[in-house]
Amino acid sequence: MAGQITAPIQALGAYADNANPGPVPGPTGLRETDALAAAIRRYAEAREAAERELTQLNATLEQRIAAAVAERDTAQARLVEAQKMEAVGQLTGGIAHDFNNLLTAIIGSLDLMRKEIAGNARLQTLSEIAIQAAQRGAMLVSQLLAFGRRQTLQPQSVRLEHALADIRLLIGPATGGEVTLATELATDLWACWVDRGQLDSAILNLVFNAHDAMPRGGTLTIAAINRTVEAAEAKRLDIAAGDYVRVAVSDTGAGMSPETAKRAFEPFFTTKGVGSGTGLGLSQVWGFAKQSDGTATIDSRPGDGTTVALLLPRAASEPAAAAAAVAAPDHAVTSKRILVVEDSNEVRALAQSLLEDLGHQAIVAPHAEAALAILSGDQAVDLLFCDIVLGGPIDGRRLAELARVLRPELKVLLTSGYPDRLQPMPGDPPIIAKPYQQADLTARLAALFDA
Ligand SMILES: Nc1ncnc2c1ncn2[C@@H]1O[C@H](COP(=O)(O)OP(=O)(O)O)[C@@H](O)[C@H]1O
Ligand SMILES: [Mg+2]
Repeated sequence: MAGQITAPIQALGAYADNANPGPVPGPTGLRETDALAAAIRRYAEAREAAERELTQLNATLEQRIAAAVAERDTAQARLVEAQKMEAVGQLTGGIAHDFNNLLTAIIGSLDLMRKEIAGNARLQTLSEIAIQAAQRGAMLVSQLLAFGRRQTLQPQSVRLEHALADIRLLIGPATGGEVTLATELATDLWACWVDRGQLDSAILNLVFNAHDAMPRGGTLTIAAINRTVEAAEAKRLDIAAGDYVRVAVSDTGAGMSPETAKRAFEPFFTTKGVGSGTGLGLSQVWGFAKQSDGTATIDSRPGDGTTVALLLPRAASEPAAAAAAVAAPDHAVTSKRILVVEDSNEVRALAQSLLEDLGHQAIVAPHAEAALAILSGDQAVDLLFCDIVLGGPIDGRRLAELARVLRPELKVLLTSGYPDRLQPMPGDPPIIAKPYQQADLTARLAALFDA
C-alpha cells in the first residue's frame, strides 16, 4: 500500500523537478495521485506559457526601446535643423528689410529723376543702368525676405491649373532644347490659399533648377494632387494636420548628394559656379512654403533625379471669379488728398514726391499719433496711405482701424516690406509691397478710387 502511493508520487515529484519534463506519468488509478498529476500538468503548462510570454515581451521591449531612441534622435536632428534655419532666417530677414527700405528710396528717386533728365542722353543711360541694378538688388532682397518669412504675402484662393497655365507660357522658352515638359494634375484638385506672385516665383525657381540639372535633356514633370495629412505625419513635417495641395516638380537630372540635399534650402548655398547660381532659389521656395503654413521637401539621389514638393494649405473657398483679375485702370486718378504715414524719413519723402508728381496732395506724418491728430481735426483726407510697421505702439493696421472709426468713409492703402506675420484677412485694406514704383502706386490708387 505504502509503495503503491509513494512510487507514483515519487515519479510525479521527479517530473515536477525536471526542467523539461516531457509527458506527465500516466494515470495510476489512485484518485489522489491522479488529481495531483493533473494539477502538476496544469502548473507546467501555465509556466511554459508564462515563459513564452516573457521571451516575447523582452523582444518587443527591445524593439520599442530602439524605436523610441531612433525617434528621439530624428526629432532632435529636426529641431537642430529648424533652429538653424530660423537663426539664418532672422539674420537675412533683418538685413533684407533694411535694404528693402533703402532700395525703395533709391528706385523711387531714380524713377522721378528720369523725368527731369529727359533731354540728356548720357544721364539717361546712367540712370537706366542704376535703375536696373537697383531692381536686381530688389529681386535678391525679395528672395531673402521670402526666406526670412518676411514677405508681405497676400494669400488668396488659387487654382493650380490656372497658375500653371500662366507659368507654362513663361517657362516655354526656358524648357526648350532637349527638355520635355509634362504636367500631371489631379482632376478634382482643391484650390490652395497662397500668394499668387510668390507661388509663381517658387515654381519658376524649381523649374530653373530642374533645367540646370538636365544639361543633356530629360523630362521635367509638374504634378499636383490633393493630400490629407494625418497627425503623425503632420508632426514629422512640422505643419498642422489637415488638407493640402501637393505640387511636385521632378526632373530626370543629376540628382543631389545627401550633403547637398541637406543644405539646399539654406540661403546662398549653391554648387553652381560664380555668376550662374545665387543659392537663393530654394530659399525662396522654402520660406514661401513655410510662411504660407505649408512646407517643402526634397527627394533626391545622385543619378536618380530630383523631386521638390510643396505642400500648400487648402483654401476654404473657391477663387472669386472676375474680381480676382484686377482690371487695368484706363485713367489715372489725380488730385486726391493723401495722408502718408511712414517712419522712415527717406521712404516718407519719396512717397510724398511720387504722389505729388502724380498730381496728388500729400500730407505727411512720421507716426500713428501724428496721423490721428490730423484725422481728428477737420483737414480733408481722401486716403490714408500707411506703413504697417511704424515703430510706435500703434501699428499701421491698428491706425487704419482707428482712422475708420474717426472717418468711416476714409479709404486705406497699407504698405510693408516687413514681417507681416498676420496673414491678411479678407476685408483687410489692400497692401502694396515695398519697394514700389510710381506705376504700382498709380494702379493701386486707380483701383481704390474707381471702386
Ligand atoms: N533639381 C535639382 N537637381 C539637382 N540639384 C539641385 C536641384 N535643385 C537644387 N539643387 C541643388 O541645390 C543648390 C541650391 O539651389 P538654389 O537655392 O536654387 O540655388 P542655385 O540654383 O542658385 O544654385 C543648387 O546649387 C544645387 O546644388
Ligand atoms: Mg536655383
